[in-house]
Amino acid sequence: MKREEIRDLHKTYTQFANKTITVCGWVRTIRDSKNIAFIELNDGAFKSVQIVVEKDKIKNYDEVVKQNVGASIMAEGKVVLTPNAQQAFEINASAVNVLGECATDYPLQKKRHTVEFLRSIPTIRARGNLFNAVFRIRSVAAFMIHQFFHDRNFVYIHTPIITSNDCEGAGEMFQVTTLDLNKVASSGKVDYSKDFFNKKVSLTVSGQLHEECLTHAFGKTYTFGPTFRAENSNTTRHAAEFWMMEPEMCFCDLDELMNNEEEMIKYVITHVMDECKDELEFLNKFVDTGLIERLKNIVENDFVRLDYTEAIKMLEKVKDRFTFPVKWGVDLQSEHERYITEEIYKKPVFLKNYPKDIKAFYMRQNDDGKTVAAVDLLVPGIGELIGGSQREERLDKLTSRIKELGLKEQDYAWYLDTRRYGTNVHSGYGLGFERLVMYLTGISNIRDVEIFPRTVGGIIG
Ligand code: 4AD
Ligand code: MG
Repeated sequence: MKREEIRDLHKTYTQFANKTITVCGWVRTIRDSKNIAFIELNDGAFKSVQIVVEKDKIKNYDEVVKQNVGASIMAEGKVVLTPNAQQAFEINASAVNVLGECATDYPLQKKRHTVEFLRSIPTIRARGNLFNAVFRIRSVAAFMIHQFFHDRNFVYIHTPIITSNDCEGAGEMFQVTTLDLNKVASSGKVDYSKDFFNKKVSLTVSGQLHEECLTHAFGKTYTFGPTFRAENSNTTRHAAEFWMMEPEMCFCDLDELMNNEEEMIKYVITHVMDECKDELEFLNKFVDTGLIERLKNIVENDFVRLDYTEAIKMLEKVKDRFTFPVKWGVDLQSEHERYITEEIYKKPVFLKNYPKDIKAFYMRQNDDGKTVAAVDLLVPGIGELIGGSQREERLDKLTSRIKELGLKEQDYAWYLDTRRYGTNVHSGYGLGFERLVMYLTGISNIRDVEIFPRTVGGIIG
């Protein structure tokens, strides 16, 4: 069976005028008035197509009109241009086959549901407009990221999911074990030498350290895959399982790193705006009325580049408005980050040169002895979208920092080899992909940009 896809049809329907075609999909709505029925058919394209079914033209009219919303059908018919109607064309059916009936308890009966209700039906929610738009944009954004890096000679690396290292040193890892926990509990001690890998291992919090080894082979690499954090943060921006995209570049300093970040974000936004017009218009109407304007502004303006120390001075001037205290040395809270990006600058801000004590061991120490060449990209509505840094390329400095933080040097021997065999100034960053999708869609809760969200205290499916 040759079927036309509705997404293509909306672009090329004039070529099909008066021709007979076949489409397949699910019934979104069905209205019948005795001798004529109208079916809004959706096959996954954001825009549906109207099928006009006339009683005297098809054999099984009674069977067709009794179908419920959600039924799958195949319709054959002539494309009729309707320039004066709401939709530019419709299909006048000559045959309709019911492929799969839909049970009457199908949850998407109404046109509009609350996001909370939709969150409770993750297996079904992508069949409605909101999640159709969000997950198409998610897919296009991922593709554009690959395109951006592929066009610039980066090599895509699949770093391991199971790891024996805590890259960020925050101890927020999910352990992986084949030990029988009931036996462990009754024996009162854990013998990791009996575990699958003969040592304690976890799910990765970042592919960075493994990736850096490959960056020293290819010069420019990126990873893009699932990442896991057992952070007990029940917020709208934290998930226990999320996707992170981590580029890493040799012979690249902090300024060049920021250039790459800015160029990448603008590239992805520009192409998503181009490919997902219908989806963005819908989101702009129903989710966030400032969305399209904001995305345009980001593409057209330079991002701000600001030192942490300067930001602290600005925050101290208005410290009474914050719940958390502000002084040099503190890790910024979301309220601080959002004040800087949403109220002071109203655009994306690179915040750089953070105190070394609040950042990971691998970041390059600055000459002042107090700060590291770290940079976070803060964006309105989200806060931290990207975290990155120039890496400490000097073996002695990196080794002493590892010791200072109480980490075991031998655990990092393989990583330290990159500094022994042809070290160089290099930098990288990690983009929280769900946060990017939130930014692109105006969706305010991370649970609504992952189809099966995994967040603290909750899992469905
Ligand atoms: O700032 P983070 O912790 O940086 C790293 O892991 C580095 N190793 C990355 C690198 O330089 N290669 O995490 C990077 C980004 C954050 O800026 C945030 O957008 C996202 O990952 N992120 C989360 N997203 C959703 N849920 C969570 N629990 C997240 N934790 C971090
Ligand atoms: Mg960070």
